[in-house]
Amino acid sequence: MWRVAEGGIVVLTGAGISAESGLGTFRDPGGLWTRYRLEDVATPEGFARNPALVHEFYNARRAQARAARPNAAHAALARLERALGPALLIVTQNVDALHEAAGASRVLHMHGQLDGALCAACGHRWPAPEAMAIEDPCPACGSAATRPDVVWFGEYPAHMDEIGAALAGAELFVSIGTSGNVWPAAGFAAEARARGARTLELNLEPSDGANVFHEARHGPASQLVPAWVDEVLQTRQRPAPRPR
Ligand code: OAD
Ligand code: ZN
Repeated sequence: MWRVAEGGIVVLTGAGISAESGLGTFRDPGGLWTRYRLEDVATPEGFARNPALVHEFYNARRAQARAARPNAAHAALARLERALGPALLIVTQNVDALHEAAGASRVLHMHGQLDGALCAACGHRWPAPEAMAIEDPCPACGSAATRPDVVWFGEYPAHMDEIGAALAGAELFVSIGTSGNVWPAAGFAAEARARGARTLELNLEPSDGANVFHEARHGPASQLVPAWVDEVLQTRQRPAPRPR
């Protein structure tokens, strides 16, 4: 179980951090949910109705995500992790692997991952090939019930116990590139704040829950995140004053 060390930082990321890597967000103009009905492609009911359409949607997103490169914001968080180790936990709503591609490893994917396949019959998980179909037999039970290992609306997000423990122990909670529309992630800032954390938002524009943050900075993640990481490292690495 991953916890954040006492006085640590919990970072929550959303689609906005990957936008400058060329991956579209959901709710911005032209975003995925303006072009697809989420009921069709991001619910268990949609998958039951038309599994081929759902696989087509995620196969395309997987191909895009695998071709994408991390940007300066992902790189800055990986740099922060190298400096802070267990005092940093990255919780992401993103299903891409750009945090890991930038070198971060303490990353919890609460909405699953495009790089995973999941058997809807037995729950077995395995690495996703580039393109999946429901007919692909499960390596464990042989069922033709292959689905992407992503969390759909109406399903329970992953790692909630670890996230809850981390929020309770965090000194600082930072939300990056998320619109604050989707629960339970939308409630994390208030939860961390109620447990004594300072809360900071780094986003292109004020999010839906903007009033729960002690501080907000608005602009592109590729600029805001490296600047914030520099600040944290300057403060935390400042040597203790020498006694005279
Ligand atoms: P949204 O598309 O809802 O929000 C993206 C946020 O990023 C918006 O507030 C934008 O203003 C901001 N943004 C856009 N470009 C940015 C940039 N270059 N730098 C900084 N911020 C930028 O995406 P999420 O909040 O991640 O869930 O969406 C949450 C969940 O809703 C997703 O995980 C997905 C979706 O339905 C599931 O599929 C279960
Ligand atoms: Zn199976």
